[in-house]
Amino acid sequence: MPMRVAIPKERRADEKRVAASPETVRKMKGLGLDVVVETGAGVASAVPDAAYEAAGATIAPDAAAALGDADIVLKVQRPITAAEGGPDEAGLMKTGAVLIALLAPYQNKAQVEAYATAGIDAFSMELLPRITRAQSMDVLSSQANLAGYRAVLDAAAAFGRAFPMMMTAAGTVPPARAFIMGVGVAGLQAIATAKRLGAIVSATDVRPATKEQVESLGGSFVAVEDEEFKQAQTAGGYAKEMSPAYQEKQRALVAETIKKQDVVITTALIPGRKAPVLVTDAMLRTMKPGSVLVDMAVEQGGNVEGSKPGEVVELYGVKIVGHLNIPSRIAVDASALYARNLLNFLQPLVEKDAGALKIDLEDEVLKGTCLTRGGRIVHPAFAPATGG
Ligand code: NAI
Repeated sequence: MPMRVAIPKERRADEKRVAASPETVRKMKGLGLDVVVETGAGVASAVPDAAYEAAGATIAPDAAAALGDADIVLKVQRPITAAEGGPDEAGLMKTGAVLIALLAPYQNKAQVEAYATAGIDAFSMELLPRITRAQSMDVLSSQANLAGYRAVLDAAAAFGRAFPMMMTAAGTVPPARAFIMGVGVAGLQAIATAKRLGAIVSATDVRPATKEQVESLGGSFVAVEDEEFKQAQTAGGYAKEMSPAYQEKQRALVAETIKKQDVVITTALIPGRKAPVLVTDAMLRTMKPGSVLVDMAVEQGGNVEGSKPGEVVELYGVKIVGHLNIPSRIAVDASALYARNLLNFLQPLVEKDAGALKIDLEDEVLKGTCLTRGGRIVHPAFAPATGG
């Protein structure tokens, strides 16, 4: 019997993405897998049931029918629970099923325990190690890239002026000044997008490697480049939390820079911690009326003081955009890339005609992402203390 992959409909508010595309369904079929898609799963990403059917999937009428016999479940967000008003998606899955999704385990530790208890082998895609081999599976990158683009368009839509300089018979429209704070994947795409729209772009980050990247995209780099800055990157390539003294110096430089900006996009995150506050209330007061900030870190506590998750607030004549789930605001492309990331993760685990996935927890990619296996929590960051 071929293994069966289920693609349930995403049920969380604001989630328009879906974990498979017709293209990935076709490829999964090619790997010898059966694919079942819950009816309507792709609609918000512009994929009707018929497109999945044409790719070889069968359509299930509801979550229970999709999940009940599935050996592998591909999702965007973690399963919804009955307490959250959904069908208990994890409860509908069978023992031994493999779940692959963005499980947000740090924020949902109890749910990790529940996967173990239910005998679900759960893999959390945001824990994927950022090694070269895994780049094609890297959902954080694929989604952050599109989100960085979308954040600039959201800023442009909220901005009462133009981005490019325009010389017209009625006079010259000056170019907008855009400042990107945090130059990871999202920030780099935000720089490129703001440039394409014609803004004058500058950017800041605490990782020294970003200086060259900003400049290569035609932006100017703004940072306190002292000794601490030169050491401010972990072996994994992420930002470290900076000392209070550095943060103070950085704040002073940002305060000077921000006064002159029209558009500010903040993307700064530190894995496993609350996002750093980069734009304070005092700085907002110095900004020009009509300026727009997009706080892409709003769900992790926010980079901008006063930003509110899911809202556009106006303070001192300045708009602060706090949209939730920005990748879902560009759902068609976000789903297509996410689906490919999951396929690339799954593909090496499938052996033709085998009854189960080949899961070797010595493999760096699987070891990094596997939360639970065989009824136990196996990820060291979530395993209960042994008491020894
Ligand atoms: P992220 O989403 O964790 O953080 C966004 C940015 O905020 C980072 O550049 C970080 O340095 C910056 N930041 C943190 N605190 C800050 C502060 N106080 N002020 C200003 N900026 C601050 O980062 P993301 O986008 O996930 O990328 C992290 C790194 O991983 C990057 O170097 C990226 O190029 C690298 N990467 C490597 C991949 C690989 O497979 N080799 C794949 C994807 C990313």
